Amino acid sequence: MNHIAIFASGTGSNAKKIIEHFQSNPSIKVSLLVSNKATAPVLEMAQSFGIDQHVIDRHSFYETEEILTVFEKYEIDFIVLAGFLWLIPTYLVESFTKRMVNIHPALLPKFGGKGMYGKYVHRAVKEAGEKESGITIHFVNENYDEGDIIFQASCDISPEDSPEEIGKKVLQLEHRFFATVIENILVSQN
Ligand code: GRF
Repeated sequence: MNHIAIFASGTGSNAKKIIEHFQSNPSIKVSLLVSNKATAPVLEMAQSFGIDQHVIDRHSFYETEEILTVFEKYEIDFIVLAGFLWLIPTYLVESFTKRMVNIHPALLPKFGGKGMYGKYVHRAVKEAGEKESGITIHFVNENYDEGDIIFQASCDISPEDSPEEIGKKVLQLEHRFFATVIENILVSQN
């Protein structure tokens, strides 16, 4: 049995898709939702699915390894970052080598790095006059958006598309592929 912890601090539309995807899976379970924002809508969503939650603060996350104790309780063996903006500290990267993935709403290595999230990514893609954008699912290391790439999918964008429209197209790709890619990784690692 795999136990996944999802880290999310926003709306949680990806988290919801992932939770729904694994609901009927007897060997993969989303067991914990971790957030750095006590008021994040994603927490309410997770609660509606009966998923336990853990809110972290900067001190505990960066200066202690308390989260590892929480993970032991839930037998967490895989982490999914789905809209989580804090850099992952070394102790956590080392504990979850090749067992922690992130989704980025652009085709890395372009348009990644600190501060490149949500609308900032789509604005930059628009300003660069790109003809396509997409998603990148990658393993997580100590640097923003730099771990090994596992999967990419792209969508065409037209010169008329606003950053918001680009964002919508990209989010559709996220919803379509993220859970399946996670499942494939877990199946291949077992
Ligand atoms: C997504 O665009 C994802 O790529 C990024 O954060 C956003 C999260 O959206 N890392 P949601 O909270 O899952 O709706």
